[in-house]
Amino acid sequence: MSLVVVANREPLRREGDGWVPAVGGLATALLPVLERRGGAWVAWGEKDAGSLPLLHYPPAAPRFAVHRLFLPPREVAGSYHGMANRTLWPLAHYLLDRVEIRRDFLTAYRSTNRRFAEAVLSLWDDPHIPVWVQDYHLMLVPALLRAARPQGRIGFFWHIPWPPPEVWQVLPWLEELLAGVLGADLVGLHTAEYVDNFLATCRLLPGAVVRGQRVLWQGRAVRVEAHPIGIDTARFRRWAAEPRIRERAARLRRAAGGRFVLVGVDRLDYTKGIPERLAAWERLLEQHPQWRGQATLYQIAVPSRTRLESYRQLKRRVDEQVGRINGAFMQDGWLPVRYLYRAFPPQELVAFYLAADVALVTPLRDGMNLVAQEYAWVTENGVLVLSNLAGAAAVLPEALRVNPYDVDGLAETLHGILASLAEGRGRRTWEARRAALKERVAALDVHGWAARFLASLEQAPAVPAGPPRR
Ligand code: ADP
Ligand code: G6P
Repeated sequence: MSLVVVANREPLRREGDGWVPAVGGLATALLPVLERRGGAWVAWGEKDAGSLPLLHYPPAAPRFAVHRLFLPPREVAGSYHGMANRTLWPLAHYLLDRVEIRRDFLTAYRSTNRRFAEAVLSLWDDPHIPVWVQDYHLMLVPALLRAARPQGRIGFFWHIPWPPPEVWQVLPWLEELLAGVLGADLVGLHTAEYVDNFLATCRLLPGAVVRGQRVLWQGRAVRVEAHPIGIDTARFRRWAAEPRIRERAARLRRAAGGRFVLVGVDRLDYTKGIPERLAAWERLLEQHPQWRGQATLYQIAVPSRTRLESYRQLKRRVDEQVGRINGAFMQDGWLPVRYLYRAFPPQELVAFYLAADVALVTPLRDGMNLVAQEYAWVTENGVLVLSNLAGAAAVLPEALRVNPYDVDGLAETLHGILASLAEGRGRRTWEARRAALKERVAALDVHGWAARFLASLEQAPAVPAGPPRR
């Protein structure tokens, strides 16, 4: 075993008799890393996905093992559906009116984190093997591991935005959670902005001293670094070259009718800015009728966290918007919005990317947003419209930036893009942007990301480990 990854989400989900990659940035990014490096992945084993506690993957020639942890439903309710998704998720995305503060969430979260730590300890027999803990579901795990293995190599990666301390101060348990994360030797976040915010938040923790990009805490130095995540570029390139996928892309364009195809691909999550995007599309069709019958938006939304009322509400809102827009503008077999509410295998998404002249990646906040990279990498003549509030904006400066809250502005930007494409204006500029974006995405490749993080984790601690302070 060379690596232990610990994440709430398992890397695969059940489809028919087989397994396909789970949906979400974390799982889609780390799956190819484990396939290449081998190791173990400890995750919550959702009962719907089967009852095997251990899974070897890929089944034909196993490269890594998934250790599936079965958690009591009540604990999942408080920890995953509660603390993770109703407290930490909206808080990290700056949506404070959605944050729910409940003590029973914390109790369940502590207990789930303990179970994860115990599961890791039961298979972590060599402290030189790095353990890499992922995301906001498991903030207490690094410190629990540290207490049991003071000399262990422990990394932590935070996949979502890290907001400034003013936002974190809403959380009554900030100190406990931060102390949990600081059990790691290395904390990774996507951007320099998140790193700065993390360090500033650590200043709120009594006993922690921030020195440059290090936090001195309990006799250790915890390093904090920006490691922007990427996609598996080789895999996406292969998919984009498959004749079956290219034919599917051509079919999607024909089915849309008209001249232009736009695409949005998201988990159906209130952070993704889907209602605002649809509102902009509606505004555009109202104010610039020349695009009616000429441009189609494929909006793919994968069901996510459907047990939570906030996500159900969002679904109703989006259903209603799509119905209203199509009802108002549909003509002669042309639909302004083709809405697909389901998961697709990643290759199929590539067909949509290839088909689209414009991708709309307009989250209200996003840690990174891999869809932006996937599209930029695959498209041959498309334009990436990207929210300035996504981490991706920091690493893809050549994308066309928009403010996702500004519905009128977004409608006008889209009108401008469609007009320039229709008139063949600015072709050189679009080409130059596309080429530059492809270079950026190549440099961010997920295997390099993992290699850089793990190499940094391998480095000796900046300050020799001393005895833990009492
Ligand atoms: P998040 O992690 O918040 O979901 P990202 O954009 O970073 O956002 O990652 C989403 C990942 O899930 C991408 O790799 C994307 O290809 C995948 N994905 C998005 N929508 C779908 C879908 N409908 N079906 C399958 N995979 C999807
Ligand atoms: C984001 C989070 C991941 C999470 C994914 C899907 O990408 O950073 O940790 O796995 O969303 O959400 P879910 O709740 O289905 O795991």
